[in-house]
Amino acid sequence: MFAGWLAEHWNDVRDVALTHATQTNEAARCALHLPVLGGIEGPIALLEVRLDVRSSADVEWLDALVWPEHDDRRGRLRAAAEIAARTPPLLVSGDLNEQSAALAASAPSDATLVVFHTAVLMYLDDAGREAFVRQVGELPGHWLSVEGRSVVPGIRVRDDVPNDGSDLVLAVDGVQRAWAHPHGRALTWAPNP
Ligand SMILES: C[S@@+](CC[C@H](N)C(=O)[O-])C[C@H]1O[C@@H](n2cnc3c(N)ncnc32)[C@H](O)[C@@H]1O
Repeated sequence: MFAGWLAEHWNDVRDVALTHATQTNEAARCALHLPVLGGIEGPIALLEVRLDVRSSADVEWLDALVWPEHDDRRGRLRAAAEIAARTPPLLVSGDLNEQSAALAASAPSDATLVVFHTAVLMYLDDAGREAFVRQVGELPGHWLSVEGRSVVPGIRVRDDVPNDGSDLVLAVDGVQRAWAHPHGRALTWAPNP
């Protein structure tokens, strides 16, 4: 049945495949950030490095990328996109290495800056990752990073703390604090770094 549908719609499928990239966007990953953000004295200015969900076509695409049986993730994606569309944050297009410093400089001076990102730096090559780490290290405030275990240069990975192979490294200011489930379902703290 699927083969028949695919043959019939091949030109449409081809157009989408040539203009879109697959990626996971998971609103539940916000749950990974909360315990860290809750420990920082406010007010805080959040600078997230990532993507725009105000376009309904883009939301449809992200929805299509959620695994078929993950209905909870699909529901959360839709709910999060609605909130973001209703109360959009300041969004700036461009490469993180070109935009982050200027954006950070525009943060309110009475707020603690927190630069954060989840599952983003793997899209950069080694030089790009190193440049970003250097740049974020020169900014005031805090840096919250949730990335794959071999992605962020300079972070000592806590293999001494039990983890799953797919877990992400949650680090604050370059020090691993926890192992994080890739879809935000759990955190395992890594004490006494
Ligand atoms: C896998 S998604 C993760 C999105 C979201 N942070 C999450 O956890 O669900 C990767 C994100 O990285 C962004 N990205 C990749 N390379 C980038 C770059 N050079 N500059 C800025 N953003 C980038 C993409 O636009 C995309 O939003």
